[in-house]
Amino acid sequence: MDIETLEKEFTSIFKINSSEVYFSPGRINVIGEHTDYNGGHVFPCAISLGTYGVVSPRDDKMVGLYSANFPDAGVISFDLNSLEYDSQYGWGNYVRGMMYELKKHHDVEFDHGFNLYIHGNLPDGAGLSSSASLEILTGTILNDMFNLQLEKIDLVYAGQQTENDYIGLNSGIMDQFAIAMGKKDQAIFLDTNTMEYEYYPLDLGNNVVLIMNSNKAHELANSKYNERRAQCEEALKRIQSKLAIKSLGELTKEQFDLVSYLINDDVLLKRARHAVFENQRTVDAKNALKDRDLVKLGHLISASHISLEYDYEVSVDELDTLASTAWNQDGVLGARIIGGGFGGCAIAIVDKDRVNDVRDIIAKKYVDKFGYKADFYIAKISEGAGKIS
Ligand code: GLA
Repeated sequence: MDIETLEKEFTSIFKINSSEVYFSPGRINVIGEHTDYNGGHVFPCAISLGTYGVVSPRDDKMVGLYSANFPDAGVISFDLNSLEYDSQYGWGNYVRGMMYELKKHHDVEFDHGFNLYIHGNLPDGAGLSSSASLEILTGTILNDMFNLQLEKIDLVYAGQQTENDYIGLNSGIMDQFAIAMGKKDQAIFLDTNTMEYEYYPLDLGNNVVLIMNSNKAHELANSKYNERRAQCEEALKRIQSKLAIKSLGELTKEQFDLVSYLINDDVLLKRARHAVFENQRTVDAKNALKDRDLVKLGHLISASHISLEYDYEVSVDELDTLASTAWNQDGVLGARIIGGGFGGCAIAIVDKDRVNDVRDIIAKKYVDKFGYKADFYIAKISEGAGKIS
């Protein structure tokens, strides 16, 4: 999207000139799904699709928000002094939530208002983290505009607090972390237990990451997500009756086998097994990437899907079809659902020279089966959020 057009769009809505333009990416995750609230590892990257924000300060205490993605909502206006969650503000609650949480945890003051124009090119509800992208965009803008001198990690936590405490989704830290800390062409190997992280070049040789958007909106995704998290916490509690661990991410597969009888419930057992085995797969995948064993990396990615489908039960027929059709094509190393699940996107690691054929075959199979189409994008791994003008 070009900056001049964005600035013109800002001016046509707010009738004044803008001062700054920012960009905040979305994210994909190579592997490590539903591990981030279980003290496990994740391996995400920021992508070149994301959210643009055009902003200009105001002299009064009002904030004006407009999103080209939700034009029917019009300009959302609110007073700086009342930031409590209120459903009437719709998508604007992600901006309000960031302001609220930054004030609460960092004692910062916003002494004047601003106008903010948003234009995102992440497909909405596709599991590429459009909400975390907006949160980190907001945090980055506030940090600069009010000279808050906060570290990126403070914005990451404020984003998670916005989700958990303000919006009510008990998500982990992965999305905000990837979006704030992303680096061009690098995947971030993050241990959510210690918050230590390392960058690894996402060097896939002659392969690309094909993002496959099912265009199937998440249904009841928030309540099912929170339910999965609660199930893992219950399984952990039962293991803790005999073993002093703080999270499922501390267990190796072998240790898990020795204590899994304590869980004593078939559903909870499956949830915990996914958390423990997926964490191990993520560590193995990082090593496979480092050792340039792309075949192994692909197998781990596909195994992640199977575990999310059968043990964690967060997949849907549409995503299973995208992944399994991909598995059957020459030139595909692996494929899986990404993000929270119940709709959204899958990724496939595909030979560059075969990617158009593979895409066309999957696209046809999908539309024939479901009667509507899937969308496809080749992922470009990009920098985290920041100012672009
Ligand atoms: C969503 C959450 C993340 C993470 C993933 C699943 O994207 O926001 O914190 O839990 O689901 O891995």
